[in-house]
Amino acid sequence: MQNTRIISDNVFWVGANDYRLEKFENLFPLDKGVAYNSYLILDEKTALIDGVDLSVSKQYIDNVVGILDGRDLDYLIINHMEPDHSASIVDVIKLYPNVTIVANNKTFDFFKQFNNIDIENQKLVVAENSQLPLGKHNLSFFLTPMVHWPEVMVTYESTDKILFSADAFGSFDSNDATFDDSQIITTEYVNSMRRYYTNIVGKYGVQVTNAIKKLSTLKIDTICPLHGIIWRNHIDFLLEKYNLWSSYTPEDQDVLILYASMYGNTKNAVSIIANKLSSYGKKVEIFDTSLTDVSFLVANSFKHKFIVLASVTYNGGLYPTMLNYLNDISALNLCNRNFGLIENGTWAPMSNKIMQNIISTMRNCEIKATFSIKSSLKPTDNEKLDEFVKQLLEINE
Ligand code: FEO
Repeated sequence: MQNTRIISDNVFWVGANDYRLEKFENLFPLDKGVAYNSYLILDEKTALIDGVDLSVSKQYIDNVVGILDGRDLDYLIINHMEPDHSASIVDVIKLYPNVTIVANNKTFDFFKQFNNIDIENQKLVVAENSQLPLGKHNLSFFLTPMVHWPEVMVTYESTDKILFSADAFGSFDSNDATFDDSQIITTEYVNSMRRYYTNIVGKYGVQVTNAIKKLSTLKIDTICPLHGIIWRNHIDFLLEKYNLWSSYTPEDQDVLILYASMYGNTKNAVSIIANKLSSYGKKVEIFDTSLTDVSFLVANSFKHKFIVLASVTYNGGLYPTMLNYLNDISALNLCNRNFGLIENGTWAPMSNKIMQNIISTMRNCEIKATFSIKSSLKPTDNEKLDEFVKQLLEINE
């Protein structure tokens, strides 16, 4: 049975939720599943915007058929070819064989790579600012490459001022076409949005910034992303967050401490440093890299200005979970952060050197303080830890 929602006059959400998915992209752990959004416009012509993942295609097809209610589908618009949105569109094309498929050249290339059906006679190739009138509603298309794949475009409906924004402005977590009322924009939801943005699109900050700039000329009342909630009440808040994240600007001046500790001695140093940082009025978030999935560590790294990394030496190198974290933030182009590094080793501490090497490749990231532990802290280290904290925060007293 169909499960749909009205977005505005004759514009419908026809997506579906996978409440049971445990890992997005088979990589990022989920505890509330994920939403795959799709939208359908009924006018003189009918237009379906994007598809869903194969796992929820039955619900999706029920929704599309239900809303069309016997009408034919005139246009299928593909903003993004990643299979979490495009895997189901072959079913749509088979069900509505007269449909015209609207996409840019790159998207049609990717379509061919993923599918074995011939759509040559059904193609309508669009480019930057191409227009598609549906009747009362008018669509235009804007290319937003690398947000999050090279073929991505967004679709703007000018009558109701709706931006169908593809992956941009999405989030993890399932929801049933929920709008952004004040109960929804909780700290927990923002955390989920941040984890989605930083891990999925975080690498492409420059391209996201360019896309925001390009779209800033449009009057937008509603943003309909491919994941997460639909935005119409808190668009300024959403843009403010995206401006920070895409420019790699910290949201606050607080401290993230990540540690890799085998027997508790490195963790002991972390606890003492956190205590000292608190005495300077800093809020501190601490995570064990062995116990927390790296996607959460990445998200928190985009949040704070200061990052302290404390790691044991392992097999003459860096502890695997810390190495994985550093490779990840480096690949995601994180920049503009101040680091403090702590290493521990019983006979040949190596961690700081390796961490330093990776951080040195990250733009505008500075190592403000380092500290080396031989096995465990001694009372004489207390002053050195004081100095470490002052150097990190650049306090001269
Ligand atoms: Fe939700 Fe880039 O796909």
